[in-house]
Amino acid sequence: MVIIQGGMGVGISNWRLARTVSALGQLGVVSGTALDQVLARRLQMGDPGGHMRRALAAFPVPDLAEAICERFYVPEGKTRREAFQTLPLPTATPSVEWQALVMVANFVEVFLARDGHANPVGINFLEKIQLPHLPSIYGAMLAGVDYVLMGAGIPMKIPGVLDHFAKHEPATYPLTVSGADEPVLLSFDPREFVGGDRPPLKRPQFLAIIASDVLALSLTRRANGAVNGFIVEGPTAGGHNAPPRGARQVNDRGEPVYGPRDVVNLEKLKALGLPFWLAGGAGTADRVREALAAGATGVQVGTAFAMCAESGLRDDLRQTLLAQVRDGATDVMTNAVASPTGFPFKVATVADSLSDAGVLAARPRICDLGYLRDAYQEADGTIGFRCPSEPVNVFVSKGGERPDTAGRACICNALLATVGMPQMRAGRLEEPPIVTMGDDLAGVGRFLPPGATDYSAADVIATLTAGL
Ligand SMILES: Cc1cc2nc3c(=O)[nH]c(=O)nc-3n(C[C@H](O)[C@H](O)[C@H](O)COP(=O)(O)O)c2cc1C
Repeated sequence: MVIIQGGMGVGISNWRLARTVSALGQLGVVSGTALDQVLARRLQMGDPGGHMRRALAAFPVPDLAEAICERFYVPEGKTRREAFQTLPLPTATPSVEWQALVMVANFVEVFLARDGHANPVGINFLEKIQLPHLPSIYGAMLAGVDYVLMGAGIPMKIPGVLDHFAKHEPATYPLTVSGADEPVLLSFDPREFVGGDRPPLKRPQFLAIIASDVLALSLTRRANGAVNGFIVEGPTAGGHNAPPRGARQVNDRGEPVYGPRDVVNLEKLKALGLPFWLAGGAGTADRVREALAAGATGVQVGTAFAMCAESGLRDDLRQTLLAQVRDGATDVMTNAVASPTGFPFKVATVADSLSDAGVLAARPRICDLGYLRDAYQEADGTIGFRCPSEPVNVFVSKGGERPDTAGRACICNALLATVGMPQMRAGRLEEPPIVTMGDDLAGVGRFLPPGATDYSAADVIATLTAGL
């Protein structure tokens, strides 16, 4: 498996893209981010093609899947002006319904990505989005996921979760809570949802996405179970990037500046004896050959696949970007503040999206999805949640620092809009999209077949594996 199609949230690397890539013999990876919203919204949009209902019908506990269908499915599809149903915000003590929705949604995405071929499929999560981890991972494992890939944080306690869930045993996960006196554990007991006496599940391979050999070493030594390999991601990659090491420096566009300390020492990584893949601008046949020569098993590629015809990216946005590529007019900026995670986030310049300062300023601050909220301990010991993209006075009333709110985008809402599922407010305020792409966006014209204006995942794979 030389090529991993990187996980791309929300809904960019959907089951369709991952299934295509896996069927072609490389590793297709679905995004596991916000799948509860994605499933609920696809059902409210009428489930064209019936794929959601087909996958729901395959869920091993029919009652749970039927309840979801009953609650969200709108046969004729909601109109553009109608709002999507609001779901409860994720918390540390979630309802049974929410956990079931998260579990089933992850099952659905992996089930569909595995459909019609016998090759491995992966799922990607961001460690930072901790509240849905347990039901998400169990749902994906119930559907037979082969790889779990995780970055955007330090996934020290994930391998052990995989070991427990393979035996349908309960598992816990430590929630990061600022100011907490004691560790707060999230917990999930599979048997409460699917009953006892089930045959063991396959324990997926766990690949950690890292930007430092020191982190790779500490994961191999201290994780609570086996880490099976690494994705080494550099700062040109699409999505979130690891922040630079050392004193914070920015260039004249406000982009973080990376230096020699941010380069992963591949010799040290190799010494760990685990397979690894290189990511970030690795989407050319030359880079694939270089990666193999450097001892990597292959590469992980995102931007090239995000721009192909099978991607979940809204088609008009994709066509706009393909026209920019043809005209040599792409612009990708590493935005140091847009993402509430605090990680640098690559943003492509596209009209009518949050890359436009006017569009960003015009959007009322609303936090109603809540995946990126940070947990903190209140004075009375209860756990609160805050996001620097929520209304400023609300964030400050929860102990947040006012300067932290400047320039933040609600990427939860925006990324759902980017895949054609924008929330509509009061029948007229539609959430604007935000497009993340890596620096490689400018070069994706290399995948266009002669005379063509669009390309497929198969074109990407053929180009990258040419001559191997
Ligand atoms: C649109 C887009 C969304 C992404 N979302 C995620 C994500 O949710 N989780 C993740 O670990 N990586 C994410 N990435 C990073 C990719 O998985 C991959 O590592 C990266 O794109 C590789 O670099 P490249 O863009 O130069 O090919 C995203 C990348 C893109 C382009």
